Amino acid sequence: MVKKCFIIIAILHLIDVDSQELYKDKSLPVEERVDDLLKRMTLEEKILQLNQYTFGVNNNINNRGEEISELPPEIGSLIFFSSDPNLRNEIQRKAIENSRLGIPILFGFDVIHGFRMIFPIPLGQAASWNPDLVKEACSSAAREAKQSGIDWTFSPMIDVARDPRWGRVAEGYGEDPYVNSRFGVASIEGYQGNKLSDPYSIAACLKHYIGYGMSEGGRDYRSTDISNQSLWHTYIPPFKAGVEAGAATVMSAFNTLNGVPATSNSYILQEVLGEKLGFQGFVVSDWNAIQQLINQGVAKDEKEAGLKAFLAGIDMDMRDNIYRENLEALIEDKKITMGKIDKSVTRILKLKFELGLFDDPYTEIIDAENRYMSAQSKAVAKKLATESMVLLKNQKGILPLDKSLKKIALIGPMAKDKGNLMGAWSYNGKDKDVVSIYEGFRKEFKQADIFYERGADFEGEDRSGFKSALEIAQKSDIIFVCLGEKKTWGGENASRSSITLPSIQEELLDVLNKTGKPIVLILSSGRPIELKDLEPNSDAILEIWQPDTEGGHATAEIISGRENPSGKLAITFPLSSGQIPTYYNTRPSARPKQGMYQDIPTEPLYSFGHGLSYSNFDFSSIRVSKNRFHKGEKIKAEISVTNTSELSGKETVLWFISDPVSSISRPVKS
Ligand code: GLC
Repeated sequence: MVKKCFIIIAILHLIDVDSQELYKDKSLPVEERVDDLLKRMTLEEKILQLNQYTFGVNNNINNRGEEISELPPEIGSLIFFSSDPNLRNEIQRKAIENSRLGIPILFGFDVIHGFRMIFPIPLGQAASWNPDLVKEACSSAAREAKQSGIDWTFSPMIDVARDPRWGRVAEGYGEDPYVNSRFGVASIEGYQGNKLSDPYSIAACLKHYIGYGMSEGGRDYRSTDISNQSLWHTYIPPFKAGVEAGAATVMSAFNTLNGVPATSNSYILQEVLGEKLGFQGFVVSDWNAIQQLINQGVAKDEKEAGLKAFLAGIDMDMRDNIYRENLEALIEDKKITMGKIDKSVTRILKLKFELGLFDDPYTEIIDAENRYMSAQSKAVAKKLATESMVLLKNQKGILPLDKSLKKIALIGPMAKDKGNLMGAWSYNGKDKDVVSIYEGFRKEFKQADIFYERGADFEGEDRSGFKSALEIAQKSDIIFVCLGEKKTWGGENASRSSITLPSIQEELLDVLNKTGKPIVLILSSGRPIELKDLEPNSDAILEIWQPDTEGGHATAEIISGRENPSGKLAITFPLSSGQIPTYYNTRPSARPKQGMYQDIPTEPLYSFGHGLSYSNFDFSSIRVSKNRFHKGEKIKAEISVTNTSELSGKETVLWFISDPVSSISRPVKS
């Protein structure tokens, strides 16, 4: 009798546990909720969590592809190409109410430098040397994104890049591992806030893992060959810093690394990221990167591609549907284990619980006019645009503009442009929100006569605008020539064989220079530009990057001296495309005085860290607490910085270290 009782109690307990859906109990620790849910999932439900589809029309022309018609409610994640939180909630409601277990969908998107309020491109942000301000910008972007239905951004991009022919230099923080580390961490802190479950936190994504910035010849999607020493010294540090900062996810890169695609490279995914860096989050492939293993010649078909990617450590398949169609068969073939499936599903569910998606799956609806472009985010955008701009040249102190000059000529294709000032990956940015350089000048120089002519297009052979440009130049005191790049010349799949501007733009400056009037070049670009022929024709050069929604005001206020420029380059400006790659932290030459180019100078035009101010800052000699240090001891070094001018300004002190004698040849400085 007693035995029977026990059995009955045991059965009741079992039923009881089954009916008690512990995973829905928010008082339980995440690990327990995940375990309980995992036990309840079928293989198909598990596999669907490992898939990401897209929803809406993708503006990235390189990534089209047919829309997935029927959207299974159990899908793990969606790239959400909409900014309508009602639509997100409608899709989420289906996922929760029309599926057996009600697992919420993770909505991702490329919030690279802002959502609707666009901030400077990351390459420009790095020139501010102000991680705290970048953190504020990312926090502001996260708020706009979260209110639009996004839980996860595919940002920060922390690919150390030294080849400005590669269009994606715009999206990262330049050529230095430390700078990429610091701004990567600042971005993660801005996006993820104190806790992922905070109302305006979104999950970050370290990308593109790894070495993508070395894509051969600056041509996108190509191979990279990186020594293990360089991998650990240059490319891994930003990801190590990002993992330590708690980045929730990582995205694998398109490139092959030493012959093995990053998306099927178990050394970098398992040994390095998993074991050595201790990453606990999940890895998502880049767009179609699993299917691309076939193009890269390491998989004969999609099934083998899916097997290699999954075994290497890709947890979630970004939209090529390979996991959904092949993982079940691979389990039946005993090529992969259920244990490995469970590990990947666990990582994905864990993030969904940590984001609070199970307990609060729907976006709070705030009407659009109060969702975007807050006064606070505008102020951050203007400050960051201002601090990112770099005064490259200022001959004869032509800037700040002399107040007595009352006739200003504003000429060039960028002068009234709005859309291009936002740069690549500005999907939800609206041209109408952008303040053009012309509008900035009109506001800043109310007492002056501002004459405008476009003069020329960004490219082409049409010189018909030169005449009217010359006419207004002749009657002006000073000429501002606004040149630069279209936003489509940067970003993904935007490699250029040369970093010069189209000749029509160079010709326009040359023609205007012949007037003998003072000329200021205002340059808006997503990469370093070859200035070999533009620099001699300019008395001053201001690199404004693609400065964002407030770019016109920031530009005009620097020109007028209301703001004192403080930006310093985070990437080298070669004198000529022929010098590429050229970057500051190279290893020393065997013959420092030889090995130079015979046809052009070998030194770049503007080095990493270059940037002028309207003030003069004197640095004292370095004071070091002592001259000998043991391993592990901290070095304390100090200098005094004195502003010897009348104008207050900001100065960033860049510290470099070097190791003159080491077991391997170290960079000349770091
Ligand atoms: C793109 C990019 C990646 C982006 C992803 C989703 O191909 O390489 O940076 O996050 O696809 O749009």
